[in-house]
Amino acid sequence: MNQDDMKKAVARAALDYLNEYDMVIGMGTGSTVNYFIDLLSSVKSRVDAVVSSSDATTAKLKALGFHVKELNQTGDILLYFDGADECDQHNRLIKGGGGALTREKVVAEAAEKFICMIDETKRVDLLGGFPLAVEVIPMARSLVARKLVKLGGQPVFRQGFVTDNGGEILDVHHLKITDPVTLEQEINAIPGVISHGLFARRGADITLIADSSGQVKTQ
Ligand code: 5RP
Repeated sequence: MNQDDMKKAVARAALDYLNEYDMVIGMGTGSTVNYFIDLLSSVKSRVDAVVSSSDATTAKLKALGFHVKELNQTGDILLYFDGADECDQHNRLIKGGGGALTREKVVAEAAEKFICMIDETKRVDLLGGFPLAVEVIPMARSLVARKLVKLGGQPVFRQGFVTDNGGEILDVHHLKITDPVTLEQEINAIPGVISHGLFARRGADITLIADSSGQVKTQ
């Protein structure tokens, strides 16, 4: 099974978590989420509305006839489904490969249960192999980059990419994230940072992990 097949397998397994009807659910961003949305469209009547984490996800949901609601209209939601770039043994995550990390963090925060869908290549013992995306307001980019160097990382400007919030992204390489909760707070405290892709304080509640034989285990 290749990585795409594993993403489809884990998306299929995540459908089992839709255990109530007429739910408002939150939706992340990325290729795994896109597979999940395709599958969800076959049981659309079970979902009352979806809170989206990006313009790309909103466009896909609307194209398939889902009712998309703003988080400001819904209040807290029951379930949030999303992928990740890395996940450790405590369900702490690196996200943001697709650049949607800020809204993903907001919608995850509003959810009672965050169900994360990954394939086994993303399960790591130490976070930081995948570059950590930090979203910044454009005029603060260099300042934030210098602070991130002091934290031990090597920030690389994601050229030509503007987030849905009008922000820019620094991808921070070579971070050895031994204390994810502390690092999350430290980066949050840098003026000019909008948000970043380390989901440590509020990680996933359940991570579904597909292996190359198509089996899906729960962590
Ligand atoms: C987007 C994300 C994605 O969840 C993450 O990049 C994984 O994407 P994919 O499912 O395409 O592998 O955080 O900001």
